[in-house]
Amino acid sequence: MLGIETSCDETAAAIVDSDRHILSNVVHSQIAAHTPYGGVVPEIAARAHLEYLDAVIGRALTDAGITLKDIDGVAATGGPGLIGGVIVGVMTAKAIAASAGKKFVAVNHLEAHALTARLTAPAGAPLEFPYLLLLVSGGHCQLLDVEGVGRYRRLGTTIDDAAGEAFDKAAAMLGLGFPGGPALEKAATQGDPKRFQLPRPMLGRPNADFSFSGLKTALRRAAGATMLEDRAKADLAASFQAAITDVLVDRTGRAIDAFEEKHGSGKPLVLAGGVAANKSIRTALADLAERRGMALAVPPIGLCTDNAAMVAWAGIERLAVGPADDLDFAPRPRWPLDQAAAAAGAKA
Ligand code: KG4
Ligand code: ZN
Repeated sequence: MLGIETSCDETAAAIVDSDRHILSNVVHSQIAAHTPYGGVVPEIAARAHLEYLDAVIGRALTDAGITLKDIDGVAATGGPGLIGGVIVGVMTAKAIAASAGKKFVAVNHLEAHALTARLTAPAGAPLEFPYLLLLVSGGHCQLLDVEGVGRYRRLGTTIDDAAGEAFDKAAAMLGLGFPGGPALEKAATQGDPKRFQLPRPMLGRPNADFSFSGLKTALRRAAGATMLEDRAKADLAASFQAAITDVLVDRTGRAIDAFEEKHGSGKPLVLAGGVAANKSIRTALADLAERRGMALAVPPIGLCTDNAAMVAWAGIERLAVGPADDLDFAPRPRWPLDQAAAAAGAKA
């Protein structure tokens, strides 16, 4: 399966087979193009996808040592995401499918993140359904009951920013650069997480939803208007990271309660998305999983952040249980995973 990912600022293509081998995985990051603006500019992203995608696909085929003749299908992210980029990926995938006579699969980007841990599970220990997924990235912050391919129940979501977005905005506020997550984590290693008492929004609420905008405001207030010394920056970064970590642990704990009501105890907890790269968050969730008698599964960092191997794999999983998509599929800027939210018109 050829996978194509263009929904944000990575132009990516990969070849994956149904025995869970990643034959190639090419990611062209556009970070340099967006850095001057301090965030992803949709129009620049769409144009860059158009410019680089053909070469990235060519490289994925070459790295895998195959040609288009050897693939069974093309899977592209069909949404949710920045619509210009999604259109570029979907149109390219359709063109390849039509001209080479291959199957086309439009993959939900969230489903690709949700199924990645099944691709990367060790050979002797496959990851079976159901499992609880905490998906935390720049664009998404959700807790999902993953019951099977195409069967997702959303247990919690953010009512404002995504966790990665909060990291990015906090880093920008502290003048730490873009993308903010890794920069803030680095600064935090030198800081005292107890120096600033930042709020833990939603802590203790009965549902499993998230909110980060109050934390952002509190950070802005604590940072003040003056230039910060490095010491203060590091302490603020550490305090902010500690607050986010506490919120993720508390909300995930609530979701475990809801998940166990339906599925019982002892099922796996899976962490995915770019924020899963954060060591203090990984450690805190590993502790939580242990306390709750769950095994924690986290894909390798390079497959937590956006990539096309996860899209190819989701295409393989989809084709194993159902038909390919028609070539008249329309890209979807919004595409909630769970049917209840989709019916209610919720944003992804
Ligand atoms: O999954 P991803 O590559 O793209 C989206 O689908 O959004 O996630 C990128 C997000 C960014 O917000 C970035 O700041 C955050 O993940 N991130 C981190 C770390 N590495 C990346 N956040 C916290 N700590 C990190 N080490
Ligand atoms: Zn993503």
